[in-house]
Amino acid sequence: MEKKFRKIGVLTSGGDAPGMNAAVRSVARAALARGVEVVGIKGGYSGLINDNMIELKPRAVTGIIYQGGTFLYSDRCDEFKTEEGMQKAIATCKKHGIDGIVAIGGDGTFRGATDLSVRGIPTIGIPGTIDNDITATENSIGFDTAMNTVLEMVDRLRDTCESHARCNVVEVMGRGAGDIALNTAMALGAVACVIPECPFDEAACMEKIRTLRADGKRSFLVIVSEGVENFSEGLAKRIQAETGVETKFARLAHVVRGGTPTLTDRVFATKLGVAAVDQLLAGKSNLVMCQQNNKIVAVDILYSQCLDRKYKGTLKEGMLEKFSAEEIAAMDAAIAEKKAEFAELYAIVNDLAR
Ligand code: F6P
Repeated sequence: MEKKFRKIGVLTSGGDAPGMNAAVRSVARAALARGVEVVGIKGGYSGLINDNMIELKPRAVTGIIYQGGTFLYSDRCDEFKTEEGMQKAIATCKKHGIDGIVAIGGDGTFRGATDLSVRGIPTIGIPGTIDNDITATENSIGFDTAMNTVLEMVDRLRDTCESHARCNVVEVMGRGAGDIALNTAMALGAVACVIPECPFDEAACMEKIRTLRADGKRSFLVIVSEGVENFSEGLAKRIQAETGVETKFARLAHVVRGGTPTLTDRVFATKLGVAAVDQLLAGKSNLVMCQQNNKIVAVDILYSQCLDRKYKGTLKEGMLEKFSAEEIAAMDAAIAEKKAEFAELYAIVNDLAR
């Protein structure tokens, strides 16, 4: 028989992302509209462990849709990874009569969602990370805003590079994923882009800068993903030494994670919030809401995690045993599609960098 939901919790966990507030608002409003009470769990999973929560009445989420960060606060909680921490979290859920949880965040958040689901607290994940590094979904909350922030910041750098005939190497966030770097490099007209997913031809980059400078080009931008570790600052020095073009280095770091969410992120977060509540109230658990072919779909969290690991080459022995041959073939197809898309965009960035 379908479980009757009286109260659900919502939390944001891991690195914050613009649009998380829009998602919390959407979860709260959708649940309340369906006659379900909502509590906001503060500080991610540590809020569950430490019993830190607030009731979310409709007015509690008024005026937050346009705000960056997360008004529920966030945390990367090591205690939640222990059985003791988990049991404290379950006890808090029982104490407050929380029948299910919507957890907004990245892959660490989804691991926590599974831990709760298997211990009897149905949990649905919503992808909220600027990195867009969850392979099962085409988009994640905060990705669009982060890219637009990079554009705004680096357009400014371009102004001063042009005035002074300089190059600027800019490192952008993204953890192990080059999505932010690749897309912004294209939109900025960068001369080169360095991402973990594609091999970088440094000699060709130097040659291009030398040729373009000889042809009269004044300013150059090179976008580097932080996923290519310990590389960007050294690259800036080498460009200056090898091409003679004065080169500055900028690391945008957390500035890319803040700010008002874009329309795309607000709309996406709102759709995901409603869909997550619908899944929870339909008795579903351990799913992550994803965008595939521009539609919102629910994907098994374990499937999503194994797909990520397969993509990154970090699968452990036996992890695929639970899946059918068709499911594994679907993983391979999704990975091939993502790799082809990266290669295509990377080629465009390099071809147009003239
Ligand atoms: O996952 C989001 C992200 O901003 C990554 O791009 C970055 O590598 C990481 O978080 C930084 O984490 P922290 O805020 O804990 O330093």
